[in-house]
Amino acid sequence: MKRDIHIVGNWKMNQTLQAISDFFVEMSKMKMELKCQAWIAPQALHIPILKEIAFTTGAIAIGAQNCSEHDSGAYTGEISPLALADLGVEFVIIGHSERRTIYKEDNPLLNKKVLAALKHNLKVIYCVGETLLERESNLTFDVLEEQLAEGLKNISSDKLPLLLIAYEPVWAIGTGKTASAEQAEEAHAFIRSKLSAGAESTIILYGGSVKPDNIDMLLSKENIDGALVGGASLKAADFRALCSSASAYETRKG
Ligand code: 13P
Repeated sequence: MKRDIHIVGNWKMNQTLQAISDFFVEMSKMKMELKCQAWIAPQALHIPILKEIAFTTGAIAIGAQNCSEHDSGAYTGEISPLALADLGVEFVIIGHSERRTIYKEDNPLLNKKVLAALKHNLKVIYCVGETLLERESNLTFDVLEEQLAEGLKNISSDKLPLLLIAYEPVWAIGTGKTASAEQAEEAHAFIRSKLSAGAESTIILYGGSVKPDNIDMLLSKENIDGALVGGASLKAADFRALCSSASAYETRKG
């Protein structure tokens, strides 16, 4: 089963209107060479603006970095999955380690968010990953297994094609320390072995200090289907370079 290579930019709480405009002027120059899936998750306030630009340039899918487990109601400050779907948003990142750590989102809550997003046919990038302490205590696979088992409960088989996984070792996020390609591949293969039906076609992204100079090494691995990129996705030149590398791998997966 063919798996498209995805480069997904997680802009976190960054970018101004001017920076967004500059980014897309630069990106529009590469429209013809883009052969991978290029996705961007800006901060929620900027989603409609990026949707508008993406509609014009046509090549980039726009998503959210988080959503509520509820569709609507008295939940001040939350992001409704119903509203995201209404806006034509294509995907949502759920369970990023910054949500897990800073905002104390646990696996049962994340499961509710996953199900709420899938209900509206949003694609979901569900993030998993171990801390440095967990890796050094040989707990990596236990942590991944629990995050997968609890976070992905009760997904009906017709929604599985909407699910992507991102393996983001917490110790590699924003630190400049990338997992070696072998460490990442080992974790990706483990994750794939724990997914039920449809595992062969599930996209599994790697995240954590991905840069133009390490993307090739990661994409050369069989179970690494792309990257979830923070810092290097903010600059068009780097995001373009990542997409160019990924475009070269388009036909190598399957
Ligand atoms: P960096 O690429 O900045 O390490 O961030 C990774 C990340 O958290 C993507 O979701």
